[in-house]
Amino acid sequence: MPRFRQILDTMAGYKPGKAVVAPDGRSYKLSSNESPYDPLPSVVEAIAEGARQINRYPDPGCVELTEAIAGRFGVPADHIALGAGSVTVAQQLFETVGEPGAEVVYAWRSFEAYPLLADLAGVTSVRVPLAGEDHDLDAMAEAINDRTRMVFVCNPNNPTGTSIRRGALEAFLDRVPERVLVVLDEAYREYVRDEDVPDGLTLYRDRPNVCVLRTFSKAYGLAGLRVGYLIGQEPVASAVRKTIIPFAVNHLAQVAALASLQAEDELLERVERVVKERTRVREALIAQGWTVPPTEANFVWLRLGERTMDFASSCGLEGVAVRPFPGEGARVSIGSPESNDVFLAAAQEFLARP
Ligand SMILES: Cc1ncc(COP(=O)(O)O)c(C=O)c1O
Repeated sequence: MPRFRQILDTMAGYKPGKAVVAPDGRSYKLSSNESPYDPLPSVVEAIAEGARQINRYPDPGCVELTEAIAGRFGVPADHIALGAGSVTVAQQLFETVGEPGAEVVYAWRSFEAYPLLADLAGVTSVRVPLAGEDHDLDAMAEAINDRTRMVFVCNPNNPTGTSIRRGALEAFLDRVPERVLVVLDEAYREYVRDEDVPDGLTLYRDRPNVCVLRTFSKAYGLAGLRVGYLIGQEPVASAVRKTIIPFAVNHLAQVAALASLQAEDELLERVERVVKERTRVREALIAQGWTVPPTEANFVWLRLGERTMDFASSCGLEGVAVRPFPGEGARVSIGSPESNDVFLAAAQEFLARP
């Protein structure tokens, strides 16, 4: 028997959101915060065209896409590091700063990949409990010590949907020593409508230890192709670029991401529709009697405690897949109006049960 790393025995594996099918065959996947829309025809065309070149390796430097992102956000191209989904860029960040004895600080509960990536990198996780449904930035600042190499701040937070406002985030960043890298994970940035929630790109420019993670998976609808990126100052971005597995971002992902940037207006119109649905769903849940924290992402959070798994099965009977965190709560993605209606009916029925 080969010897495996000990951490594999205890490591929290990643549990992806699953689809469920109702007894009558209906299925509404609201468990992975995906875009409910079919890919745009122009993006499908770019992928079909790109398929003609797949006998060749992709551009390892993702030059065209990097330049398009740089142009879109008005940042230098050398401030960008691309990866196969932002979760892979997060893994690269662990490769960049992690070594035995190092610590990473993040809120908990937050994005489930953080503990997994920390374990894989041999880095110690320091989880700072949420205060209610929000980041406890004071406690996070206090958790930083000489061993801390990195802090993840998920804004808006997955799974609670809550977000950190500018004053609070800036005050926190001022307390973090410059040798500690702060990663602002903004996977859901395009859904943010609260103007007081800062765009990380306005914060990293004069802070050499701050970087921003973004993805094409959510608002741009490319979850299946895996493209994400980091924007940070040149030393951070170039360190992360060194950790990429050669050719990790495949050619179809690169052309689809480029085509998506070209069709951004259309995609952001879809985001706007999701945001309207988010308001409708949250208000309907509150009218039913639920407590729903304000959300700036494409999902809502219901703190159900011990009833969480019961709720998930009850939604499952209607064909609605939600993301349960046993003993804590359920995260429910905003989907098409039809799937949201089915979910709302299931939520109402659950409350009506004795
Ligand atoms: C907060 C957060 N960051 C990063 C990701 C990873 O997205 P991807 O790897 O698809 O870019 C997700 C996906 O659910 C997320 O919720």
